[in-house]
Amino acid sequence: MFITLEGVDGSGKTSHVPHLVEYLRGLDYKVYPAREPGGTPIGERIRSIVLDLRCAEIDHRTETLLFLAARAQFVEQVVKPHLKAGEIVISDRFADSTVAYQGYGHQQPLEVINTLVKYAKNGLEPDLTLLLDLDAEIGLKRKTITDDWNRVDAYPIDFHRRVHDGYLKLTKSDPDRWIVINANQSWENVQDALRHEIIKRIKN
Ligand code: TYD
Repeated sequence: MFITLEGVDGSGKTSHVPHLVEYLRGLDYKVYPAREPGGTPIGERIRSIVLDLRCAEIDHRTETLLFLAARAQFVEQVVKPHLKAGEIVISDRFADSTVAYQGYGHQQPLEVINTLVKYAKNGLEPDLTLLLDLDAEIGLKRKTITDDWNRVDAYPIDFHRRVHDGYLKLTKSDPDRWIVINANQSWENVQDALRHEIIKRIKN
């Protein structure tokens, strides 16, 4: 089973993944946690370029292709082998991030983005995608108080609002795969909701 977590910056995905993994392992599931961009040696090197505040001159197409290059490697080197070994893979971001950020956020032509995304993911589809739904403003405020502010966070607020709207559109286009979780509630409530939805999907 391939599970992905999506959401605007500061929606809290990254803090939830280790606890979900621990919980599922406690139930005797084999779980592999992953993240994008990155997750492979090549992907981590791409990540260091694409999130670097010093790379501010990056063109939108360069940005898109770098995220996708990291993903192509991640799909083949990480996700497919772990799924084949019977593990649950939980990934902090996947293909929907590119549609939301580069497609809706940067307003790159969706037809082109969708074609490129399809090429990079090479037939791999998540079984379940959890959206941590949070207004862009709240997410960015949460992030400014942490020290991992990156180049994508630094885009104007309107960019982040478009990303959020894009995510909501994506959830409507494929309601069987997406579950929307309200991320504007206590961390414990969000964690409980995530656990509940994952178990429900595993049992189905
Ligand atoms: P990261 O520090 O991992 O943030 P988060 O914890 O919010 O995931 O940074 C990843 C950033 O890269 C985040 O701002 C979203 C962005 N991103 C894209 O723009 N497109 C993509 O395809 C992916 C995977 C991420």
